[in-house]
Amino acid sequence: MKKIAVFGSVNIDYFVESKILPKAGETVSGENFFMNFGGKGANQAVAAARLGGDVALFGSIGNDDQKNILLEHFKEENVDVNYLNVRNDVSTGAAFIQLCESENRIIIVPGANQYTNRKYSEQHLENLLNYDLFVFQLEVPVDALEYLIPILHSHNKTIILDPAPAQLLSNEILEKITYITPNEHEVSIITDDIGDKDGLLAKYPNKLIVTCGKYGVKYHNGKEVVTVPARRVKAIDTTGAGDTFTGAFAVALSEGMPLHDCIVYGTYAGSLAVMKKGAQSGMPRKHEMNELLEKEGRRLES
Ligand code: RIB
Repeated sequence: MKKIAVFGSVNIDYFVESKILPKAGETVSGENFFMNFGGKGANQAVAAARLGGDVALFGSIGNDDQKNILLEHFKEENVDVNYLNVRNDVSTGAAFIQLCESENRIIIVPGANQYTNRKYSEQHLENLLNYDLFVFQLEVPVDALEYLIPILHSHNKTIILDPAPAQLLSNEILEKITYITPNEHEVSIITDDIGDKDGLLAKYPNKLIVTCGKYGVKYHNGKEVVTVPARRVKAIDTTGAGDTFTGAFAVALSEGMPLHDCIVYGTYAGSLAVMKKGAQSGMPRKHEMNELLEKEGRRLES
């Protein structure tokens, strides 16, 4: 099994659940408030570790009230955080999430995540090169990715980018990434191409993998556009569903599954994740996935 390094953000998520969302200048009553573990990097690392991946998380947290809780959590989840950057000068990243009818709106305050930057990457380059498969998102400074991706590419590493929150990326970077997993909104932003989506998929065969929520996942297999259908479930909270997909996809790749099966594995994991509130609460463990795949008669190659 290949070793996975997730390079990205760590947040504490602060959820407010309400039946309606306030307009500007309006006050509404919420139904529920809760805190949970989050951050796209941490979510992807936990998703991959729960499914049996050999995972390390490269990221930053503050030396604050959250530090020990987070370190304990990562230990319980089998995520190696030996290289985590603990900062005295700033607090752990925070995400403020409005949850309304299973949809979310998120504001993030980066805090320590801003130090998961080029300098931190330079300091850990040797450690990073011990891993085989890399997972990035865009909640940390892009200078880190601009520095690391060309080096990792030159070492023939497998590189996955979940480009969220979306921003325009240079062709030079895009071409060095092995798999890109945007959702249907992010895909036009990262490529600056608002044209025909199938044409865009054909431009990046077996590489651009677009998650479309309940409409499934689309990619081009070199001959045609393929849609991997989503499992039909009642979604309670979609926060972290994309992260679960990417984490599960990474584990499947690390185990040597063919691309199509890696995508199926990701959609199954995502379908379970949305059935509980909170980004990490519903992420499945390996035995739950195996039981579900077996029950639905899905045989994936490994
Ligand atoms: O993708 C979901 C995540 O986005 C949340 O956990 C939140 O922390 C934000 O980073």
